[in-house]
Amino acid sequence: MNDTNVKKKIVVAIDGPAASGKSTTARLVAKKLGYLYIDSGAMYRAVTLLALRKNIPTTDFDKVAQLAESAVIQFKMEGGELRTFLNGEDVSQEIRSPEVTKEISPVAANPRVREILVAKQREMGKEGGIVMDGRDITTVVFPDAELKIFMKASAEERARRRVKELAERGIQADFDQVLKEIIRRDEADSTRAHGPLTQAPDAVVIDTTNLSIEEQVERIYKLALEKVQDC
Ligand code: CDP
Repeated sequence: MNDTNVKKKIVVAIDGPAASGKSTTARLVAKKLGYLYIDSGAMYRAVTLLALRKNIPTTDFDKVAQLAESAVIQFKMEGGELRTFLNGEDVSQEIRSPEVTKEISPVAANPRVREILVAKQREMGKEGGIVMDGRDITTVVFPDAELKIFMKASAEERARRRVKELAERGIQADFDQVLKEIIRRDEADSTRAHGPLTQAPDAVVIDTTNLSIEEQVERIYKLALEKVQDC
């Protein structure tokens, strides 16, 4: 290993179904590596929020694509948290609302929206030194990423985590309702024609059902260090 190798900045791509712990894990892995963290789901959420605010049906593919085209979506790390800005406004809380989650699937299935957001994501990661999580990061956005991870967990465990996460933000949610919603979104994400959630053949699969966040972070961090040294 020499100095150049140590400084090589790789792309860590993480995919997985709803509430599999990707975002928290990706953020902490990025912090440990000194990399940028990009939550691609937040971008689909921001476009969905914009459509809801403008009373544009999320199923109106052309109008929603126009919104995606004109939207300025930016990320900033503040106090260890990733903040999402939509046209200059901090929408980090609002994009996580159940209303946005409920309406997101047609936006994520919109091929033009995907094209626009994928281009933005590639631009953000073009220098390497990035951890990005989502559904199509290992397959479409960065198919050549040095490290690819597929995170999964049982639907029940994921629903438990989401209920807890919502409660921490003051939103009371019913477990059965959240479980139903997660299963519905998994189905929509896996079966859409463009950028569906699939496991890349060369991805390292991590089942997080019985893992703590610290264990997940440590595992991915070690794999990233190995890749950095190999490069
Ligand atoms: O945290 P959670 O899994 O609930 O959601 P997220 O990662 O914020 O993603 C929300 C939705 O955005 C997903 O259900 C997908 O439909 C969509 N998405 C996508 O299509 N492609 C991505 N790269 C990331 C998210």
